[in-house]
Amino acid sequence: MHAILAEGPNKLTWREISDVVPHPGEVLIKVSAAGVNRADLLQAAGKYPPPPGASDIIGLEVSGTIAGLGDGVEAWSVGQPVCALLAGGGYAEYVAVPAGQVMPIPDTVDLHHAAGLPEVSCTVWSNLVMTAHLAPGELVLIHGGASGVGTHAIQVARALGARVAVTAGSPTKLELCAELGAEITIAYRDEDFVERVRAEGGADVILDIMGASYLDRNIDALAPDGRIVVIGMQGGVKGELNLGKLIAKRAAVIGTALRGRPVSGPGGKSEIAAAVVDNVWPLIADGQVRPVIGAEFPIQQAQAAHELLASGDVSGKVLLRVRD
Ligand SMILES: NC(=O)c1ccc[n+]([C@@H]2O[C@H](COP(=O)([O-])OP(=O)(O)OC[C@H]3O[C@@H](n4cnc5c(N)ncnc54)[C@H](OP(=O)(O)O)[C@@H]3O)[C@@H](O)[C@H]2O)c1
Repeated sequence: MHAILAEGPNKLTWREISDVVPHPGEVLIKVSAAGVNRADLLQAAGKYPPPPGASDIIGLEVSGTIAGLGDGVEAWSVGQPVCALLAGGGYAEYVAVPAGQVMPIPDTVDLHHAAGLPEVSCTVWSNLVMTAHLAPGELVLIHGGASGVGTHAIQVARALGARVAVTAGSPTKLELCAELGAEITIAYRDEDFVERVRAEGGADVILDIMGASYLDRNIDALAPDGRIVVIGMQGGVKGELNLGKLIAKRAAVIGTALRGRPVSGPGGKSEIAAAVVDNVWPLIADGQVRPVIGAEFPIQQAQAAHELLASGDVSGKVLLRVRD
């Protein structure tokens, strides 16, 4: 089979490698498309090694059809169209994945476009609902509203009955966020998000991708009993936390990462994938949530896809087509 290998800085190459085989409890997927994630850029640069036991091929999500089953897998059958959350291995013709991380394709979604759903859906549901317990009527501030994660988070939060504020860097991105359901759109380059959100009573939940550079201002933007979930560190890893402000608001700062979670057990990837199928797929099927695809490339052009995501000149998900 073929897969993308990181053969040096900025050098992603489509090469022939050994076939992958499913181990007991795994499903073999013949990949139709793979989603590109910001974490893939870090891995390609040698800054985000895969967790122990995971494939060292880049790629955290795919869609495709089931091509084989490891021993003990009964819930799936060969030929079924599926998508899956991976710990690695997605930029390839075939990938093996624990059965609990495999999901059906939501009704109404094209097989290729489904490759852009597992990471964003599992990230959004696990953070907004399972971690931050976002409730109807609450205000959620989503930083980077036009990102892959942000475009999904806006729609899910709205479907849950929450009010949505977003930050983004350009008018075009802010327009997209508004079209997806964001009520308060903040041009972070020109406006102070703390002021805008405080004028609305403060955010009950903040989904943060910036980390250190936004930590203090995020706490300022919170409502009493607010929860900040940090999922990205684009603005650095070390910040100063003013505990006085935190205590006064009875606030929480929580950090989470999907990739390193265990496959099974409480809070594991299988539990999250099952919750997504139960709760998010019906929202997609009835049109409340749609995949937002910003660009598609043939897998052989993975390097160009990475460069586009790194440039910030794209909204929603970037996909790699492996087969037609
Ligand atoms: N912890 C986890 O489990 C997990 C899982 C998935 C993703 N993530 C993280 O979530 C983030 C989004 O992932 P993605 O794949 O959706 O990435 P992406 O599409 O590349 O989005 C990155 C976004 O960051 C925004 N941004 C840059 N500077 C900003 C600032 N100062 N304020 C607000 N937004 C800013 C950019 O928006 P503008 O162009 O508008 O500036 C861009 O839309 C990444 O940091 C990723 O690592 C974490």
